[in-house]
Amino acid sequence: MEERTGTLILTVTSTKGGVGKTTLAANLGGLLADLGQRVLLIDADIQPTLSSYYALERQASRGLTALMTEGDLESSISRTMVGCDLVVSDDPEGRLQNWVLHTPDGRVRLKHTLARLNRYDVIIIDTQGAVGPLQDAAVLAADVLLSPIPPEILSAREFARGTLGMLERLRPMQFLGAPVGALYGVIYRMDRAAEAIRIAAELRKESFAQSRGLIRILDTVVQNTVAYREAATNRTPVHRWESRRRGPSQSARDTMLALARELLPHISNEPAARDGGAE
Ligand SMILES: Nc1ncnc2c1ncn2[C@@H]1O[C@H](COP(=O)(O)OP(=O)(O)OP(=O)(O)O)[C@@H](O)[C@H]1O
Ligand SMILES: [Mg+2]
Repeated sequence: MEERTGTLILTVTSTKGGVGKTTLAANLGGLLADLGQRVLLIDADIQPTLSSYYALERQASRGLTALMTEGDLESSISRTMVGCDLVVSDDPEGRLQNWVLHTPDGRVRLKHTLARLNRYDVIIIDTQGAVGPLQDAAVLAADVLLSPIPPEILSAREFARGTLGMLERLRPMQFLGAPVGALYGVIYRMDRAAEAIRIAAELRKESFAQSRGLIRILDTVVQNTVAYREAATNRTPVHRWESRRRGPSQSARDTMLALARELLPHISNEPAARDGGAE
């Protein structure tokens, strides 16, 4: 990615549910905050998993609905205990899907609202694993899209098909000033390194050629380890929870750092993390 100075908006997206989007969004946010970045998490899933992932230091009176429908930046932003801010999801009935659908500029409203928000280095939006107008709005708000890909080869094919379909469908939005960002796929919940290499090769073949370079499979592979679940239970970013390796594979901290550096190369030379997990 090219170097940039403003806010980077990253949306975690997948047409499939349960693949690790929320875990990835929360841990990336927690890590970047510890690296000194000013981070805002936005929970755009009607199932508010990200909203309660970390304990709150301060709870705002409003959340996603006010942010989306009124562009309210004042009372929609809460503060977590781990150093990032958070817009909670407050739409259990899924009314926002309809609102986006029936509002003429609904799909680009979030993008335009976030453009007014310049006090963050990184904004990370978590989405629901399905296709819908609210997901479209979150995708169109992003500079960069990130998709966890489960390692079964069928998922890899499904990823290429589903994701390319979404990118193609939204491509005309560029004429409304909302071009679709580059998409990064990360092989996620991998058990064996050798398998990861094979799947990565298959994925690059399936998706890269067809997408004319719009989809990139990242080199970093996220392992399937209990640390992610334990860290979530303890409401802690995984890089703090597993700062040293326990088994044959690298620590979750090293994995998340590698991922962050691939996504945001301009932070790679920042001073060491201030999270106490020094090597
Ligand atoms: N790297 C990992 N290793 C092992 N388990 C993981 C890993 N990442 C996430 N998990 C577990 O997988 C489950 C699903 O993860 P998560 O909730 O992040 O997925 P999701 O894509 O947000 O799901 P949904 O589509 O329902 O929003 C959770 O129980 C989580 O703890
Ligand atoms: Mg989720």
